[in-house]
Amino acid sequence: MPYAPCPMPNTQSMTNEIQSIFNRIAPVYDQLNDWLSLGQHRIWKEMAVKWSAAKSGDTALDLCCGSGDLALRLARRTGATGKVYGVDFSPNLLEKAKERSHWQYPQPAIAWIEADVLNLPFDDNQFDAATMGYGLRNVKDIPRSLQELYRVLKPGAKAAILDFHRPSNPQLRAFQQLYLDSFVVPVASYLGLKEEYAYISPSLDRFPIGREQIKLARQVGFAVATHYTIVNGMMGVLVLSKLGVIS
Ligand SMILES: C[S@@+](CC[C@H](N)C(=O)[O-])C[C@H]1O[C@@H](n2cnc3c(N)ncnc32)[C@H](O)[C@@H]1O
Repeated sequence: MPYAPCPMPNTQSMTNEIQSIFNRIAPVYDQLNDWLSLGQHRIWKEMAVKWSAAKSGDTALDLCCGSGDLALRLARRTGATGKVYGVDFSPNLLEKAKERSHWQYPQPAIAWIEADVLNLPFDDNQFDAATMGYGLRNVKDIPRSLQELYRVLKPGAKAAILDFHRPSNPQLRAFQQLYLDSFVVPVASYLGLKEEYAYISPSLDRFPIGREQIKLARQVGFAVATHYTIVNGMMGVLVLSKLGVIS
């Protein structure tokens, strides 16, 4: 089942435009995720949390956290003795995340941080684990984003990055395209967000496939980089390790 949670603007260069699009979709974002993936996004996010190797007591990071779904899952792993930092530059989505965590019991140990993931407000070597869900395809500078992630992870730490992927099988790719054009865009149009979601398809065309993501990750210093395709290659999880022993 393909899934289309990530709209984008018509010009990639404008950070403000990306921010304003995510601010606009904030009221319906969670509902759309459930509809478009038939609830499956929960499973894929759990896989990302598992592959990040986060454990109880860890200080962990969720980049491009949006309305907080993945960060909250990560916080369940790190527990009361750990801490999660959810980072996003959309104030409206962060507001949703705060509301959501407010109603959780026990209260998750999460700090919601409004910041650009291309310029993280953290010192070097801070985090034991990290996740990112449907964010990498949306940042305007992928190598820079990976470089920042590398910088803030402790030696020995892992990160798991979940996003769309283009299947190598032409029939599956055609199915994915049909799904985007004939299901995702009409559903988004119904909610008044046609333009934003129509952008997914070209953004996916530009997004590096697994082996290209691995190359980019190695270039910024990750010692181990593996890309796992899931959902018949329509999604992928890039799992990264920073060399060293976690302290
Ligand atoms: C498709 S959403 C994913 C949200 C969430 N991770 C999820 O899986 O539901 C992409 C998110 O990336 C954020 N984003 C994109 N570029 C960013 C950047 N440079 N800095 C911070 N957040 C960014 C957007 O605001 C948006 O919340």
